[in-house]
Amino acid sequence: MGKILVIGCGGVASVAVHKICQNDEEFQELCIASRTVAKCNALKEKLQNTTKTKITTAKVDANNVADLVKLINEFKPDVVLNLALPYQDLKIMDACLETGVHYIDTANYEPEDTAKFEYKWQWAYRERYQKAGLTALLGSGFDPGVTGVFSAYALKHYFDEINYIDILDCNAGDHGYPFATNFNPEINIREVSAKGSYWENGKWIETEPMEIKRVYNFPEIGEKDMYLLHHEELESLGLNIPGIKRIRFFMTFGKSYLTHLKCLENVGMTSIKPIMYEGKEIVPLQFLKAVLPDPSSLGPRTKGKTNIGCIFTGKKDGKERNIYIYNVCDHQECYKEVGSQAVAYTTGVPAMIGAMLVMNGTWRKAGVYNIEEFNPDPFMEALNKWGLPWKVSENPELVP
Ligand SMILES: NC(=O)c1ccc[n+]([C@@H]2O[C@H](COP(=O)([O-])OP(=O)(O)OC[C@H]3O[C@@H](n4cnc5c(N)ncnc54)[C@H](OP(=O)(O)O)[C@@H]3O)[C@@H](O)[C@H]2O)c1
Repeated sequence: MGKILVIGCGGVASVAVHKICQNDEEFQELCIASRTVAKCNALKEKLQNTTKTKITTAKVDANNVADLVKLINEFKPDVVLNLALPYQDLKIMDACLETGVHYIDTANYEPEDTAKFEYKWQWAYRERYQKAGLTALLGSGFDPGVTGVFSAYALKHYFDEINYIDILDCNAGDHGYPFATNFNPEINIREVSAKGSYWENGKWIETEPMEIKRVYNFPEIGEKDMYLLHHEELESLGLNIPGIKRIRFFMTFGKSYLTHLKCLENVGMTSIKPIMYEGKEIVPLQFLKAVLPDPSSLGPRTKGKTNIGCIFTGKKDGKERNIYIYNVCDHQECYKEVGSQAVAYTTGVPAMIGAMLVMNGTWRKAGVYNIEEFNPDPFMEALNKWGLPWKVSENPELVP
């Protein structure tokens, strides 16, 4: 039993909070704190009569360490679950260090003015967390998150050595809009309009955005076009999976999404460089975010499934082996259960699980760790229990 402070109250936080309230044997008290406190209050209102978890709310500016420290000292949580934006990671890590509280997030730090996400800024906290006897668990969403847990699980139970990992993220959901993003549009567009890259023989190989395309026949979904992207777990898995020779990440995109994105890029709407507009400085991508559909409004409209998983190739007892571990999630079922579509659901559930394992001491070691550095078994068990059951298939179709 313990106390959790959730920071942020957007799409992912809403699912994590629903799951925390379902798991009221573990989470005795929850404080939902964010920039817009009205959203936290609305969520509290919706859930407080459905759970034994005691819910409070607070307003906090997560860019301000003093503000965070004050809130943490007042509420005294056992863990802080950071579900605000990647820009706030370091401030929240600072506040956790200052107050002596464990830290969990789902996305690595990214400076607001450069679209470049890397672990180096958060890994630089290792010694300070070690000295303070605190655990920082990085990347407890789906990808990163469950993909790292799948990798650790495959290594533990199926292989002596893993040589190749292909992470496949397929969203076959249809929301009926010509163009909308399934999570925060600014973060999503920064990710997909960046150069692609994959990790091979200890080096990064860079590609143009969307340069590498493959078609894959996804279980329970069918054939989809997918494109190679850079993704943050490639960096940590490249270091943490011994014997690895290559890791790639592919995400599916429909034709309409790509055509719209190209057009927006061509006219400068996806730029993060500030411009002057009628005497005021604006960032084109932030303006675009303001005119696009709010991802939280997609829930009731989105139909179809997601399939996210990893294909592993490696050796067991001297022989080559291939396995595919994946989860299939249905947008409408997620909406029925927690009022959100599957993209938020597949991130919010693992965020709750990671926070639970750190809070109850199952995953506790002093320092800053990526998720694949912990024993995967309790997490895999919890995925089945909390709504993201997974399957293992031997000899799957491989990605050329
Ligand atoms: N690992 C994965 O699989 C995965 C997948 C998807 C997303 N993510 C990550 O999950 C996180 C949340 O994503 P989302 O889609 O839920 O985003 P979102 O809907 O935009 O929610 C972000 C929340 O953070 C709040 N916030 C922003 N700046 C703040 C500040 N300075 N102080 C306090 N609160 C602040 C926002 O407040 P307002 O309500 O006032 O805007 C909003 O409630 C992001 O870091 C994203 O990268 C991870």
